This record gives sequence, structure tokens and C-alpha cells, in this order.
Amino acid sequence: MKSRTPLVAGNWKMNGRQDLLAEMAQVLAGYDGAAEVVICPPYPYLAAARSVLPATIGVGGQNLSDQDDGAFTGEVSAPMLAEVGCGYVIIGHSERRALYEETDALIAAKFSRAQAAGLVPILCVGETLEEREAGDTEAVVCGQLQAVVDAVGIAAFDRAVVAYEPVWAIGTGRTASPEQAQEVHASLRKSLAQNDKDIAESLCLLYGGSVKADNAALLFAQSDIDGGLIGGASLTADSFIAICQAAE
Ligand code: G3P
Repeated sequence: MKSRTPLVAGNWKMNGRQDLLAEMAQVLAGYDGAAEVVICPPYPYLAAARSVLPATIGVGGQNLSDQDDGAFTGEVSAPMLAEVGCGYVIIGHSERRALYEETDALIAAKFSRAQAAGLVPILCVGETLEEREAGDTEAVVCGQLQAVVDAVGIAAFDRAVVAYEPVWAIGTGRTASPEQAQEVHASLRKSLAQNDKDIAESLCLLYGGSVKADNAALLFAQSDIDGGLIGGASLTADSFIAICQAAE
């Protein structure tokens, strides 16, 4: 029996409109399960999400600036996310790392800004197919995590979530098997334990990458998997709620 509270977060990416929000609000109003549920729609819908979703459902940004204010056209800061009702923010998603060249240093700076504004960072780590095939999975994901630990200090992970998202499993329909995912989660927890045992034990570790209603339960049953970060399947209310139920 895990002592950590399960968490399921829906990352809409650049998808969804107001009608999806309305549908989610309606379906999630009936959700009274044990998992913590978070919706991360695009920026323009965050304030509306906070007002239409039940108070028990969290709202999160998908990214943030490493600055709080200033001449940074197109950027959105942590205090702004907090002010419109976000409690969480995704940081270091592999799409941000690959498409926008986000470095570990920038990701660590965003992590600190998020926490300073009272947001819970959902820090993403994950290896590419090439890295997995080269046998580098553990070194890559633990390295990404340790880079942030070194920059912000292990104590900060008391108020954070980490999501393992193998790049080769994102949006591909090719999910990591429960055993593959568990193996990496155990490595992540072990590597954090070298910094602080208690924090490692209590940290919520999510799996992301082609999680669907029909594979979620087996993934979430693994001893070091505490829930999921869901992309495509978070865009349909029925499948998202089924995944939330699988996390209980
Ligand atoms: O952040 C969630 C994500 O990258 C996984 O996407 O569509 O494979 O569930 P998907």
C-alpha cells in the first residue's frame, strides 16, 4: 500500500477550447475519488478553468518564464499563474527541451520561480529512443533530475512532483511497459534518496507517455508510480476520468 497521494494531471498541450473545458467541468464535478486531479490547459483558458472546475480539481500552467515581470514579450510568469488560480506548473517537458532548447539551468530557474510564487512544479524528465537503445536511460533521467536538485537544493523537492516521460512514448501509442516504467521510477527515487531519504520516499512520481484508460491501472499499480501526466487521453472527458479512477 503506497502512502503517497495519487495524482493525475492532464496536459492539454496546444489543444482544447472552451467547449472542452465546459465538458471537463461537468464530468469532473462528479469525481469524488482519492486521486488529486489537475488540468493544465493553454494559458488563455487558465482563469476560466479555475472558475468553472470544482475547487477540488487543481489547475496548472504548462510552462512559465524564469522572470517575474519585464520586457519579455510573449512570456507568462509564476506570479501571474498563481494570481489566476494555478496551483501547479509543468516544467521541463521534453517538447520544451527539444523544440525550445530549454536547458537544465533554465529549467532549474523556472522551478525556483514557480515555488517562490507558491506553485508546485511538475518537473519532467525522460530519455529519447536513441538514449534508451544506447543503455543510457538511467544516466539521462537521473542526470536531468540531479541537475535541478543541485541548482535548487533537495529541500525544494518537498513541494514538487516529478514526471518520468520517455520521449519515445509521448504521443506515439507506444507506452513503456509497467516494468520498464517502474524500473526507471525506482532509479529516480534511489538517486533522490542519495540526497535525502525522506524526501525521496514521499515524492510523488508520475509516469507520462501514451497513458490510456486501458493501460493506466497496471502502470499505476507499480510501487514507485504515483499517478500520471496525461496528454492525448486528457482531451476526452470520459477517458480522462477513467484514468483518474485507475489511480485510486
Ligand atoms: O505531458 C504529457 C505527455 O507528454 C504524454 O502525452 O499524448 O503520450 O499521453 P501522451
